[in-house]
Amino acid sequence: MSIAVCPGSFDPVTNGHVDVIRRSARQFDEVVVTVLINESKRGMFTVDERIELIGLATSDLTNVRVQSWHGLLVHYAQDIGARAIVKGLRGSGDFEYESPMARMNKSLTGIDTYFLLADPVYGHLSSSLVKEVARFGGDVEPMLPAPVHRAVVQRMAERSGD
Ligand code: PNS
Repeated sequence: MSIAVCPGSFDPVTNGHVDVIRRSARQFDEVVVTVLINESKRGMFTVDERIELIGLATSDLTNVRVQSWHGLLVHYAQDIGARAIVKGLRGSGDFEYESPMARMNKSLTGIDTYFLLADPVYGHLSSSLVKEVARFGGDVEPMLPAPVHRAVVQRMAERSGD
């Protein structure tokens, strides 16, 4: 059985992420979307909330599950018997950022990283830009799965009094 890991921060998951997860699910028997925990960063959503939102956004994909991990990604990949890491690439900036990690992960464990070129429709999307636009009142509805958009709007309303 071929298992792939789709790792990231997913704070929150965007339509671009979901496209990469969906395309990965067509290539591998099982895709495990893995939310990496970074305790030094306070996100918009907790790790449990991110997991729930990814689950809602991928609920039609029967071979996708969502988990979290604290530590080296390749240790997690080895634990679950994954033979691949899958990441999306929006452009050359992503390539510069991702390629040293992919090479490091390969040299640590032999696990290859597979890159999917982002659909140009999603080429401008990142979780951090979406949050910034939302914070200043911009319309991020077209960029997010519907349940994620609702959660972002609600979180903005909760935080407007902070
Ligand atoms: O969503 P992001 O921020 O692009 O995801 C980056 C992430 C979390 C996938 C990457 O930083 C990662 O794999 N972190 C886990 C710790 C790890 O394995 N570090 C060594 C990478 S060579």
